[in-house]
Amino acid sequence: MESDSLRTLAESALETALGAAVVVGPDLAIVLATPRARELLNEALSVGVRAPDVLCGDGQTRRIEEALLAGQPAQGIVTRARRDGTTHQLWVRTHRLSPGSPRDGWLIVFSPAGSSSDARVGPVEFHGMWTQDARMLECFRVIERVGPEDDTVLVRGETGAGKELVARALHELSARRNGPFRAINCAAFPQSLLESELFGHVRGAFTGAHRDTPGHFLLAHRGTLFLDEVAELPLELQAKLLRVLETRTVIPIGGREPIAVDVRIVSATHRALRGEVEAGRFRADLMYRLRVIPVFIPPLRERPSDIALLVQKRIDVTNGRRRRRIDSISPAALAALERHDWPGNVRELFNCVAYAYAMGDGPELQLSDLPPEILERPSSPAVAPAAPIVTNAPPPSIAPDTSERSRLDRAVLEAGGNRSEAARRLGMSRVTLWRRLRELGTEPD
Ligand SMILES: Nc1ncnc2c1ncn2[C@@H]1O[C@H](COP(=O)(O)OP(=O)(O)OP(=O)(O)O)[C@@H](O)[C@H]1O
Ligand SMILES: [Mg+2]
Repeated sequence: MESDSLRTLAESALETALGAAVVVGPDLAIVLATPRARELLNEALSVGVRAPDVLCGDGQTRRIEEALLAGQPAQGIVTRARRDGTTHQLWVRTHRLSPGSPRDGWLIVFSPAGSSSDARVGPVEFHGMWTQDARMLECFRVIERVGPEDDTVLVRGETGAGKELVARALHELSARRNGPFRAINCAAFPQSLLESELFGHVRGAFTGAHRDTPGHFLLAHRGTLFLDEVAELPLELQAKLLRVLETRTVIPIGGREPIAVDVRIVSATHRALRGEVEAGRFRADLMYRLRVIPVFIPPLRERPSDIALLVQKRIDVTNGRRRRRIDSISPAALAALERHDWPGNVRELFNCVAYAYAMGDGPELQLSDLPPEILERPSSPAVAPAAPIVTNAPPPSIAPDTSERSRLDRAVLEAGGNRSEAARRLGMSRVTLWRRLRELGTEPD
């Protein structure tokens, strides 16, 4: 066959499989381009032309080109002009042509991004996060834009929804990516310990302080500090944190001299901070400092198209590591997964897949492989709010949910009283478990 007709055939095969796609050599010169790629990019895309501007964007997204030339795959959003002068955004994903080596060049795949009216988006992977939900994609777009800036970001989302992944993505996108990323959970320590964890202490500051110890602020110097569950910070420490943010210096406990720190703050909470401010539990001035750029991660139950996708992605990485190999999901199992309300979000979903690997057999994931809470608790439409935008709203039922209470009690019992282990099995954080037990009246205040 003539090489030209061979190329046309290859281009059409590529289009059938992937839609808009371009193959480039290691120098980023075009080898193949599908007609859909030409149409989306509004360019001729001639063979042999080295076209990083067309493929990789400019400004901030120029880093796609930099990554490819350095032999690293990359992804991002590129803004392109349409023929009529308006602009649109495209998701760009790159894959090595030969696994493990960038020597042979790259496959670059494009898909439209951004508008929630897009009937089908993705599936898209962004810094380890998969989605095909338009709201999540919007969230990625914000991260992509603010990542390289030094702005302070507040991530809000339920437990297990991916807040820490977002914080890591912001760090990786920033000029601080080679500096430290430190995470501290403000709900995990009593106040006295938390203060020392955050700001450090000097020798002799208190009994047992045998030497100078830097806190997370100093350890995150030139990097990113992730303050998880920031709404749980006691008021006294909120005042100290505010002072650190204002002066960009830290005074360790027992110390005198302020020490300059250069840290980008990303914080996260499952609560609405504004509500905490109104209730007098959080300082308004600190909220404004932390919430320069808010990022909201929708809970999994509000992005149902992600359930099947995330189960499949989890199966892809788990197959080969386990005794069992899963090749398909039964329609009944998928329906049950899609009905569940996922209070523990993606973490709970992944735990559920792990349960299926451990408890079931055979190549098809069956309904009977799923944990009891997925089978037992189909959320009836009368109980589940239709579109719960305010995710920290009180539970819809006024009377305590005895089935949830007994489920939590049973989990704690089965974990031998170990709350962290019980929380892990339930797919929720320790703090959430503790909070739910308290709300349900099984835990003293
Ligand atoms: N979109 C996603 N794609 C793939 N994996 C995800 C996604 N979102 C979350 N995960 C995975 O789900 C788990 C929970 O995510 P993460 O720890 O970021 O949640 P979190 O919001 O910080 O939870 P918590 O409030 O309990 O601290 C992790 O294993 C993470 O890798
Ligand atoms: Mg977290």
